[in-house]
Amino acid sequence: MMKRILVTGAAGQLGSELIPALRERYGNDNVVAAWRRTALTDEVADTGPSTQLDVTEQQPIERYIRDNGIDSLYHLGSLLSVAAEANRPLAHRVNIIGLLNVLEAACNTGLERVVIPSSIAAFGVDTPHDNTPNETLQRPTSLYGISKVFGELMGNYFFERVGLDVRGVRLPGVVSWKVEPGGGTTDYAVDAFYGAIREGRYTCYLRPGTYLPMMYVPDAIKSLIEVAEADLARLKHHADYNVNSMSFEPEELAAAIRRRVPHFEMTYDIDPLRQYIADSWPNSLDDTVAREEWGWRPDYDLEAMVDDMYENLSRKLLG
Ligand code: SER
Repeated sequence: MMKRILVTGAAGQLGSELIPALRERYGNDNVVAAWRRTALTDEVADTGPSTQLDVTEQQPIERYIRDNGIDSLYHLGSLLSVAAEANRPLAHRVNIIGLLNVLEAACNTGLERVVIPSSIAAFGVDTPHDNTPNETLQRPTSLYGISKVFGELMGNYFFERVGLDVRGVRLPGVVSWKVEPGGGTTDYAVDAFYGAIREGRYTCYLRPGTYLPMMYVPDAIKSLIEVAEADLARLKHHADYNVNSMSFEPEELAAAIRRRVPHFEMTYDIDPLRQYIADSWPNSLDDTVAREEWGWRPDYDLEAMVDDMYENLSRKLLG
């Protein structure tokens, strides 16, 4: 039974939404928000415990776990794809060393469960792009993708060889309105809504026709909670579940937004780095394994996501 949960990366796009959901499930005082560089949202800061923790050092993590009776951990602290290319040394320390520190600290303190999200970035240009299988060739060419494959392999290794229960899903690009993603390749899908609501226009850094798997944040949070709570006896996989929801290319998103903002205009100014990264990622994922082993099923399609996103973001930006 997970009772006291530590969440790293608590100020990020996922942490800001996962923590309120976990607090509702496990009790406010039982979910600790650990952050480092960016400040927590008021919602997270005001509703329960938090601590400043640097994942690049193992001892403080271990000490916090011991002193506070933590039994489970969500490790969300990571540099996204573009941010990682911009600062390789920091990406190495956070995405590789930080991950190892969390796993070793979890072992040394006898944690019951560790959840580490992976990503569509764990695939590469020679992976089948449509309906990408759960088991397939994984040779990513981005630093972030390499760190995600490392996380998957280490998670599975720690489960098989060390006896630590590590679980994870390969998340698509996540669309959300509470906190903007920072330094990712799929961020355009969020930025487009800000552009639409503020100015009726958005300049996209990916080429028309660039399909990517995407997911609305409530589904991403649901996948992280459900994989953590799944019955271990049913799991044949651990740190590497494909989860799929919707796929679209920029023009399709623009058309869907235009149904709510008729004058919305999307123009293009291609960023070669982000285009290169996006071109190496799948168009869609085959998530049969997650469906079969723990009953995964997303709730939002493109239209439902755009409705909810538009409504919430408009309220946030325009009051
Ligand atoms: N959203 C992430 C990124 O773009 C993918 O996991 O880097």
